[in-house]
Amino acid sequence: MKYEVVITSKNSKTNEDNRAPIGVYYKNNKILVAHLYEGSHTYENLKNEDYFIINICSPYLIAESVLNDEGNYGHLEYNDCLIPYLKDSYKIYLAKINNRKIIESKNDYGNSKLMIVESTIILEKDLKYPPFKPYNRAVGLIVEMAVLYSRLNIVNDEKRKKIKEEMENYFKIIKKVGSEKYINLGKKFLE
Ligand SMILES: Cc1cc2nc3c(=O)[nH]c(=O)nc-3n(C[C@H](O)[C@H](O)[C@H](O)COP(=O)(O)O)c2cc1C
Repeated sequence: MKYEVVITSKNSKTNEDNRAPIGVYYKNNKILVAHLYEGSHTYENLKNEDYFIINICSPYLIAESVLNDEGNYGHLEYNDCLIPYLKDSYKIYLAKINNRKIIESKNDYGNSKLMIVESTIILEKDLKYPPFKPYNRAVGLIVEMAVLYSRLNIVNDEKRKKIKEEMENYFKIIKKVGSEKYINLGKKFLE
């Protein structure tokens, strides 16, 4: 099973904090694995840094984190490193990278380098309780819009048009069932 989380990491050269939604899974129930495509800040940061944080947070925050790196960050001190996390997360895990493998990947979006990062969790911290709320369809759809948004810049014009149409369809439903907050984020993805 793959889980969507926000990975927060530090750029050791510029000292900038970074956030990005990323899918992660467990190997043999104990090794945490992430597949990172070349071109993102997260790819560069995790190539150079040994520690990062897995943020378990709301689907809205997962979706919002794809837009920019302007998060509400706190910092965890470990081994003389200050590792950023999102203060609005429900739970955070400090991960230490044990292994990196860079391979050539071929998929629907062309050829690119893919770094397979394996890590172990060395610390965990509960930050706040998730709210008990009935399911709203905008919650899943905003994450799907975020996934499509993240692909817009790596595809050709024809694929971009198709992706935009798919995003428009999700947005139509968000406008029917979602709150203003979700509608505004959906609008940003379509700008
Ligand atoms: C729900 C979701 C899951 C994602 N999973 C991955 C992933 O597993 N690997 C990856 O390289 N990019 C993934 N992305 C795309 C990155 O989040 C996106 O490229 C982001 O802009 C990288 O930000 P950064 O440059 O600040 O690191 C995902 C996006 C979303 C919305």
